[in-house]
Amino acid sequence: MKIDIISIFPEVFEPVFSVGMSRLAQERGLIDINAHDLRDFTEDKHRQVDDEPYGGGPGMIMKPEPFFAALKSLVGESPFVLSGGHRTILLTPQGKKLNQKMLSEFSRAKHLVVLCGRYEGVDARVGTFVTDEVSLGDYVLSGGEIGAMVLVDSVGRLISGVLGGEASLDEESFSNGLLEYPQYTRPASWLGFEVPPVLTSGDHKAIREWRAARARFMTQTKRPDLLEERETDL
Ligand SMILES: C[S@@+](CC[C@H](N)C(=O)[O-])C[C@H]1O[C@@H](n2cnc3c(N)ncnc32)[C@H](O)[C@@H]1O
Repeated sequence: MKIDIISIFPEVFEPVFSVGMSRLAQERGLIDINAHDLRDFTEDKHRQVDDEPYGGGPGMIMKPEPFFAALKSLVGESPFVLSGGHRTILLTPQGKKLNQKMLSEFSRAKHLVVLCGRYEGVDARVGTFVTDEVSLGDYVLSGGEIGAMVLVDSVGRLISGVLGGEASLDEESFSNGLLEYPQYTRPASWLGFEVPPVLTSGDHKAIREWRAARARFMTQTKRPDLLEERETDL
């Protein structure tokens, strides 16, 4: 998958995506992540990406033209044409709240272009040439970059071949509408806390059943809203 991020601070992405899973996935040629400077897509000598809001008010608004020019250059066609398997995602607090289901859909695209806003946000006309508006949650960040990191990291691990044991994805929190069951590692006994005996029993059927029951219990206890959503989805 090709992922292009457009931001006025492209340098913030390098340290994040040059370690761990993102680094390995790029080295194996499974993902190609590039961050671009929005100012490279301006045409004036001051490389201006923002201007005052029409109607007055505080702060500056990001202009639509540099985002449009960036998209045109990256998707190689009119940004209004939704073909070629690309998705253009604008990070905005007014978008749809990011969840695992959306990530799974994004992970099937060939090409993601992620737009990061700053200042008081972006000109509303940017919304006419994006395929998705995504929010990280009901709070306001100072820029879209952290959202882009979250999105790219979590999409990346869903791409086939990126994680070693693909089976682990099926049991992860949110993948089946439930939280994951509790996990333990050595030592089996620590400060008087014991690992549940079923996990060291070697009985795979009993382990599977225990995990399924605990996943449901954890979800019921910590996130009952997920169970309600799951019932409506089934
Ligand atoms: C300070 S915010 C602008 C907020 C805008 N004035 C509003 O009230 O909706 C600047 C940029 O940060 C990013 N941002 C802020 N909060 C976000 C959130 N919850 N999810 C995704 N992006 C967010 C967006 O790219 C936004 O354009």
